[in-house]
Amino acid sequence: MVKQSFIPTAYSNFLTEGSISWQSPSNIALVKYWGKYGEQLPKNASISFTLSNCHTKTTLSYKKIKPSEGFHFEVYLDGKREKDFEPKIQKFFERIEKYVPFLKEYEFKIETSNSFPHSSGIASSASGMSALALCLTQLERSLSGAEGTETEEKASFLARLGSGSACRSIEGPLIVWGEHPDIYGSSNLFGTKYPFEVHDTFKNYQDTILLVDKGEKQVSSTVGHNLMHDHPFAKQRFQQANNNLSKLIPVLREGDISEFIKIVESEALSLHAMMMTSMPYFILMKPNTLEIINRIWNFRKETGSNVCFTLDAGANVHVLYPEAEKENVSTFIETDLKPFCKNGEYIHDHTGDGAAAL
Ligand code: DP6
Repeated sequence: MVKQSFIPTAYSNFLTEGSISWQSPSNIALVKYWGKYGEQLPKNASISFTLSNCHTKTTLSYKKIKPSEGFHFEVYLDGKREKDFEPKIQKFFERIEKYVPFLKEYEFKIETSNSFPHSSGIASSASGMSALALCLTQLERSLSGAEGTETEEKASFLARLGSGSACRSIEGPLIVWGEHPDIYGSSNLFGTKYPFEVHDTFKNYQDTILLVDKGEKQVSSTVGHNLMHDHPFAKQRFQQANNNLSKLIPVLREGDISEFIKIVESEALSLHAMMMTSMPYFILMKPNTLEIINRIWNFRKETGSNVCFTLDAGANVHVLYPEAEKENVSTFIETDLKPFCKNGEYIHDHTGDGAAAL
């Protein structure tokens, strides 16, 4: 789908060289995106908490060159050339060229670093694509002499073309992506801020990420999304996700944490159920993922805590809890869950307001 309003007409400024830096956070979906069509369009609406401590910093240096065939760029991770990342960026540039048509007129150096270890199993595609999209949007803004114009929408639009969930990493703390009849302004093309009232219980929500398995993903998200095309339960799954998003609206407004837990945990398990029932089928959870889930359930039963879990496309567990329970849950994690993390590692995070220029 071509979005006409995102195609620029002409640039009035001329920039020979410079650099732009952005920091973008990761996000964790409460209602999951799993299944896409067309050019990075979601089969159902999703909603996520924008995180804060888990982020990517990217500097885009640009130098004017004679317009030529192909894109000219190099990618560096923590100061080291990372050729493995370049095919993904190449594909990203191909997809976005019509929306940022200056790409072939510059030579780019993309320098990126993550606040979390590369081997942590935490996906850097959402925060990384978001940060790069913001750098490009800012460069475009300078080229068009439109300093100060709101550009979140276009940055999110571009980020989506790099990685779907990246479009939810521009702003915060709660972002919706995908058209949904109950959420005005929602779009398949970019993420939008959740427009309704949110109870204090869900403000500054805590997310401790337990690093269960830090290895390479067995199955990439792209392959997993594609397996939804011929999936026997696809239609019901997309419907379930959209229904869960509808159910979340009063839950978030009223601070109904027990319903919140049911929706969020069911979403995580439904996502993994889709993986287990696709052809070929696969399991991303590890024995320790299940051990942790069971321990969270027992702790909740025994103490009345409102701690719950969610999962992304991997074995790591995101432990979600309200700020008011920070002390108790931190102790529980340290004593009861840490032994099931690889090298005892976990990362405390919480909801945040989105990306920032550096
Ligand atoms: C399980 O955004 O990584 O984290 O669009 O192919 O880059 P691509 O996929 P990606 O998928 C994320 C899936 C998920 C759920 C979610 O974040 O909503």
